[in-house]
Amino acid sequence: MTSNEIDTGRLPRHIAIIMDGNGRWAKRHGLPRVAGHEAGARSVRAAVEACREIGIEALSLYAFSTENWRRSKREVEALFRLLGKYIALELDNIHKEDIRVTIMGRREGLSKRVLGDLTHCEELTARNKSMVLNVAINYGGRAEIADAAKAIAAEVQAGRLALSDIDEACVAKHLYVADLPDPDLLIRTSGELRLSNFMLWQVSYAEIVVTRVLWPDFRKRHLHRAIAEFQSRRRRFGGR
Ligand code: IPE
Ligand code: IPE
Ligand code: MG
Repeated sequence: MTSNEIDTGRLPRHIAIIMDGNGRWAKRHGLPRVAGHEAGARSVRAAVEACREIGIEALSLYAFSTENWRRSKREVEALFRLLGKYIALELDNIHKEDIRVTIMGRREGLSKRVLGDLTHCEELTARNKSMVLNVAINYGGRAEIADAAKAIAAEVQAGRLALSDIDEACVAKHLYVADLPDPDLLIRTSGELRLSNFMLWQVSYAEIVVTRVLWPDFRKRHLHRAIAEFQSRRRRFGGR
């Protein structure tokens, strides 16, 4: 499927992707898990390019969850090394494409080097306008909601916020990245039918598309297909 077969009048504003299946891809090819993560970086480039071409406002990518620390030290280190490599290779181009990078997740627990890299990405691209690339690193949906609750409680305690001010908009404003529309389309690769703690608050009414394609095999045509599937759905938002 090509981008020509997509109705550009009914695009999702925000696409979120749970990039899953790197380990199974590596196993299938008789390679170490890390090789799967390496191959997955090429899919990230394809997804970013495709969204930019089509005119998607925001793309959120689940890169590392708060639960992924349970993996071997070796794999975790490899994942963060690859993140650094990806930034070194891609940031210039992302900036040239006028894409703004935002990072979503807990900063505590990340190394100084990683934090420095991430801050650099955000600062360099802060004024870019074509698209938002929102990367979830050390991210958990429950942690995000708990952190928002804590921030709101602190404001109430300091007298800057009244209890009666706390509503859905107030909670949304205290999430890690406040100014994004909710995802309209949530894609998960590798066939798993679960959220794995991703954007629990924001995906309330997202259309979910699960593909069996493993993340390292995911290319533009798969994204186009997911958007076409999204466009075939009837969204009701609780109305009739
Ligand atoms: C997704 O691939 C990448 C991350 C979670 C960082 P996995 O590593 O989860 O691959 P599978 O699920 O083992 O195939
Ligand atoms: C979700 O994938 C996290 C990321 C894609 C970063 P996992 O592979 O960690 O999720 P589970 O363990 O299958 O639920
Ligand atoms: Mg997985």
